[in-house]
Amino acid sequence: MNQAELVIDLDAYRSNLQVMRDLAPTAQQMAVVKANAYGHGMAACARTAREVGTPWLGVATPAEALELRGLGDSGRLLCWLATPGAPFVELIARDVDVTASSVAQLDEILATGAKARVHLKVDTGLNRNGAAQSHWAELFTRAAQAQAHGKLDIVGMWSHLAAADDPTHPANDIQETAFDEAIALAAEMGLQPEWIHLANSAATATRPSVHRDLVRVGIASYGINPDPLVKIDGLIPVMTARARLAHVKDVKAGDSVSYGWRWTADRATRLGLVPVGYGDGISRAASNLAQVGFAGERVSIRGTVCMDQFVIDVGNLEAQAGDWATLFGPGFSGEPTAEEWAQSLGTIGYEIVTQMAGRWTRTVKGGR
Ligand SMILES: Cc1ncc(COP(=O)(O)O)c(C=O)c1O
Repeated sequence: MNQAELVIDLDAYRSNLQVMRDLAPTAQQMAVVKANAYGHGMAACARTAREVGTPWLGVATPAEALELRGLGDSGRLLCWLATPGAPFVELIARDVDVTASSVAQLDEILATGAKARVHLKVDTGLNRNGAAQSHWAELFTRAAQAQAHGKLDIVGMWSHLAAADDPTHPANDIQETAFDEAIALAAEMGLQPEWIHLANSAATATRPSVHRDLVRVGIASYGINPDPLVKIDGLIPVMTARARLAHVKDVKAGDSVSYGWRWTADRATRLGLVPVGYGDGISRAASNLAQVGFAGERVSIRGTVCMDQFVIDVGNLEAQAGDWATLFGPGFSGEPTAEEWAQSLGTIGYEIVTQMAGRWTRTVKGGR
């Protein structure tokens, strides 16, 4: 019997992909499965996305792209975060679409001597990766020349939004305008890439003008809203994190709990010991803060979250070692969602699910 498990509901994943497809019916969909599919398991999610006909997968690193190819995935796949010396030869040989975020990176891709499918990444204001506006002309000129000589195919042009999760933020208009300027400048230089893409989950839900040819959907596919400001109807959380109590004990008023005695009972109560901790991705910031589902009720974490375990206060509920506590899930049985955990901890749902790692058993349900 599992001690602690992450249950991954692939039927929910498929359903969420469909919800997002319906929101952008004129664009193709890219399922973003980086970071082990935001903690949900890249292999199962990638396979499921392909089964429902998702034409594109997206990952950050070359290693993730090669891992997917190693798993047998053979569809369109884009990776976008590479450092100098990245394995472009292998990526191109394995039919991965690559991103050029600078002239230097384009040159590195060209130096492979292999004909790559390249997406040019332009920075439109996020000021993270991508060619700065002052370098667009140089990047496009070089790309157009290389394409004219048959050395590569510029198949995509893309950028990433800084504040799509806040639909009224001025950055959205500013970035969309800049993106259109980049597309126009590239066209002047003879580049008309087939795949223009800018939208993440939030923009897919709220900003149809940026759907273009392809939307890159990550967090919503895992059933999590990008932000409390962007609620997407019909999403079902894919991950449930649950663990069986290792120990139950009754304490009296005045007894203190866990490292540092940071919680003291003000009444006699019953405590349950949940055998997961920050070694498994449960943030220590959840100490004395987050709640979990137990016997259909919400109960509180008491005291400090430790590396392997934390304590919940089940009050006068019946409890015994071996009973399940559900940290978060879809909320169908009264347990909190990952979004609620995020709100308690002052973070985002992305972080809650992505950091789940360590000693969990993974149980995959649903799917074909
Ligand atoms: C370049 C890029 N596109 C799309 C996504 C998907 O974003 P979201 O999970 O908000 O849908 C990400 C994830 O951060 C990303 O880095």
